[in-house]
Amino acid sequence: MLQDDLKLSHVAARVLADLTGIHVCMIAALAICVLHPGLISARMQLRPEDAVHYYVSVFLFLSLLFPGVFLLTGLYTHSGREGSRMVSLFRGVALSLLLFSIVSFALYRRQQTPQGYIALFCGLAVFSLALPRLVKAALQQKFQAKSAAIVRRPSSDETVLILGGAGYIGSCLVRKLLAAGRKVRVMDSLIYGDYSLHDVIGHPNLQLQVGDCRKLQDLVAAARNTDAIIHLAAIVGDPACELDPQASREINYAATRMLIEVAKGNGNCRLIFSSSCSVYGATDLLMDEYSDVLPISLYAQTKVDSEEALLEAHSADFHPVILRLATVFGLSYRTRFDLIVNLLTAKAHSEGTITIFNGTQWRPFIHVQDVANGICQALDAPLDVVSGETYNLGDSRMNFTLAQLAERVLAEFPKTRVEYVENADRRNYRVSFEKIYNQIGFECRWTLEDGIREIKRAFESKFITDYRDARYSNLQFLKLCGTPLCKDELDRHLIAALTNAPAPARRSAAIWAPSTGAVRR
Ligand SMILES: NC(=O)c1ccc[n+]([C@@H]2O[C@H](COP(=O)([O-])OP(=O)(O)OC[C@H]3O[C@@H](n4cnc5c(N)ncnc54)[C@H](O)[C@@H]3O)[C@@H](O)[C@H]2O)c1
Repeated sequence: MLQDDLKLSHVAARVLADLTGIHVCMIAALAICVLHPGLISARMQLRPEDAVHYYVSVFLFLSLLFPGVFLLTGLYTHSGREGSRMVSLFRGVALSLLLFSIVSFALYRRQQTPQGYIALFCGLAVFSLALPRLVKAALQQKFQAKSAAIVRRPSSDETVLILGGAGYIGSCLVRKLLAAGRKVRVMDSLIYGDYSLHDVIGHPNLQLQVGDCRKLQDLVAAARNTDAIIHLAAIVGDPACELDPQASREINYAATRMLIEVAKGNGNCRLIFSSSCSVYGATDLLMDEYSDVLPISLYAQTKVDSEEALLEAHSADFHPVILRLATVFGLSYRTRFDLIVNLLTAKAHSEGTITIFNGTQWRPFIHVQDVANGICQALDAPLDVVSGETYNLGDSRMNFTLAQLAERVLAEFPKTRVEYVENADRRNYRVSFEKIYNQIGFECRWTLEDGIREIKRAFESKFITDYRDARYSNLQFLKLCGTPLCKDELDRHLIAALTNAPAPARRSAAIWAPSTGAVRR
């Protein structure tokens, strides 16, 4: 709420600054015409009373036109990189000045007001609106370079704990950290097996602890002598969570609450939590970290509740960092084919037909290697920058509708038949990733096309043969084997108490109703 207020006041300040600039330019242009008519053109002669009359008559129009057009052209929203913000600026300024010139010319052509002043006003307005923004962008860039340069240097003795390190994302991250010379401890209950870590088990800098994050003793042992925690362990995906809602809430939410207490007791200051952009649910707006969340599934609700618990626990000694991941794609050491880019590519290759449900819906995408890069950047970023912050992890250039995704799959598999179908899935979110770009300089290196081609090659080289194998799908695997239960009685009581305890005050505009799966407002 506080953040929303800040955002509103930020926009209000920008509107006020632009309005002041516009009026100063208008007054300056009229003053020049009165005081130095021959300065620019002989046709700029203006009497003081005409100037005052003219200014009073256009005051309201001027005050409404510029902020209105700027608002409509997206100048006051957070979308886009610095470059596209500049494009919005010039589009907004050009359109406003054009409209203003047309209206002025139409209304005042028979009066004493010289038309030359309009050109003068336009010149001054462009200068006054663009210059402060250009200076700000230059300063921001300088600041960014500085903050990127003061990346924390990890000591070689630091051990990073990865909960869920044997999963799709974790298995890439483990290798990235090992390659960077870091000591890594993985704790994972190995629901899907340990094959994703086979070739690194035995690495001198890797410890593997098989354990359940709902079990207090396992968490305490895992967190001992570690400096930072990356929390990836979860039942991942909407359908997988719905299989056993109680177990999903225990693992995805209650275990996070237990972890917070263990981490605080252990002195682990930095805890990176993998949330999801699915917290934004169904919306046509461009969502940033200050937007209201709208979880429309149990999975998304557990992420929102965990985020709240983590932010509530934020203190001078405990520094949660929340990363809301875009939808992941690409090959990993535990590749998943229950993710849309991977699945469509596999189907296009294996069956020659793909089905697109609700093609106009938006999703942000990110390659699994980029996720690992982003987590490493969050791990090494200065604590005073990232502590207690929430970031969307992705790249503003990687928002696509599902129909656009289908086009990219088609480009690689031109003979594919595409079926467009509508169903009840309402998930639709387009996300701004400006904050993570501006604050820690994160941007994606992998495009959608790169990921599609990578998977295509994996099929062509027979590295992957049957994408329908249950090990590639959380839902299919859990249907076969069941969601693991919490075995120890004491842990069961503890985790039940944490699961049922009310989550901290929610920021969400709507919450998921467990009994019906419907959204309550
Ligand atoms: N893959 C995506 O598209 C995506 C998008 C947004 C967010 N995320 C988040 O990123 C994280 C990792 O996702 P992933 O795609 O690697 O999923 P994954 O299912 O491949 O990995 C999850 C890992 O957690 C482990 N795990 C599950 N329950 C556990 C428990 N009780 N104790 C210990 N370990 C347990 C599993 O064995 C598995 O290795 C999750 O928190 C997920 O919500 C993923």
